[in-house]
Amino acid sequence: MTTQIIEEAPLDGAKLEQFVFRAVDEVGATLNAALVVIGDRLGLYRALAGAGALTPGELASRTGTGERYVREWLNAQAAGGYVAYHPEQERYSLPPEQTVALTDEDSPAYLPGFFQIALGSVLDSPRITEAIRSGSGVGWHEHNLHVHDGCERFFRPGYNANLIASWLPALDGVVERLEQGARVADVGCGHGASTILMAGAFPNSTFVGSDYHAGSIETARRRAADAALGERVRFEATPAAAYTGEGYDLVTMFDCLHDMGDPVGAARHVLGTLSPDGTWMIVEPAAGDRVEDNLNPVGRAYYGFSTLLCTPASLSQDVGLALGAQAGPARIAEVVTEAGFTRFRRVAETPFNLVFEARP
Ligand SMILES: C[S@@+](CC[C@H](N)C(=O)[O-])C[C@H]1O[C@@H](n2cnc3c(N)ncnc32)[C@H](O)[C@@H]1O
Repeated sequence: MTTQIIEEAPLDGAKLEQFVFRAVDEVGATLNAALVVIGDRLGLYRALAGAGALTPGELASRTGTGERYVREWLNAQAAGGYVAYHPEQERYSLPPEQTVALTDEDSPAYLPGFFQIALGSVLDSPRITEAIRSGSGVGWHEHNLHVHDGCERFFRPGYNANLIASWLPALDGVVERLEQGARVADVGCGHGASTILMAGAFPNSTFVGSDYHAGSIETARRRAADAALGERVRFEATPAAAYTGEGYDLVTMFDCLHDMGDPVGAARHVLGTLSPDGTWMIVEPAAGDRVEDNLNPVGRAYYGFSTLLCTPASLSQDVGLALGAQAGPARIAEVVTEAGFTRFRRVAETPFNLVFEARP
């Protein structure tokens, strides 16, 4: 074995100071994950939205909260640029862009879900510390509810914006089949946001959402009942290697293939349950193939989630392949072709997602 020697640069005091001040901003950002979730939960952002400039007392009385806390929260929000402060009146307002990003659940720019899953991941970090020490895994089902709810609230706006309008149309002939009446399996569906969206858009098709996590499937069933989708949509608590049914025209996996212990085994099950001219749509986090391709803000967030959620999830299951959230297209292609699919291509992308089509 050869050891590469990389010569150490001498300590630069100015760079050290720069790094420490950058880290101060990040400590503020870390705390802000809790502050955003609190603001969302207590309706503070929603009460500020379109309300002009409010005093802390006015915001507190509109939300039924304590004025002293609200003043401190507002100052933290103002220091981070989330809320605008008007010193001459000692009042606070929510600028229009922040109003969209912090209160409009349907906008692709909606942020509270992203913060909620981040906060949930951080809350469970003592557990992950032990798992890293022992090399064991931590399953998706073992996380706190902020992880499950935050995941749904983070991903749903992106699906609303892209799934029906651009991702499904990018697949060869799939929209036509969905319009005529197709059989669809949405695997690793979590709370069923993608299943319910597709079922609403294609009333002639039938949908089976599945996930190994029984708690998520209970929530998905409630969401489907609220959407009054009837018998066309059903959910089952089954792992990806064992979901029921066959002859599917379309199998979908949204942001879950890399979380699975045995993605190749799951891919083989997809192949066995697809009709011969069916399509497997795989949505994965945006990533390049090399580490250096992912050393950017999106890659940073995803490597963070991968360390705290995705890698431990995969390691908690049989095989434990642990693709990681930044596996990249080449690694995903290897999994798909190893399972026996003969065609694989990237059909769409956003700053957060890659969309692939695999065919038998
Ligand atoms: C990041 S979440 C994505 C959930 C959902 N697809 C969405 O987009 O909101 C990953 C999901 O994969 C599920 N999952 C992990 N391993 C699985 C397996 N082996 N079989 C089925 N589902 C699995 C988890 O329970 C979790 O719901």
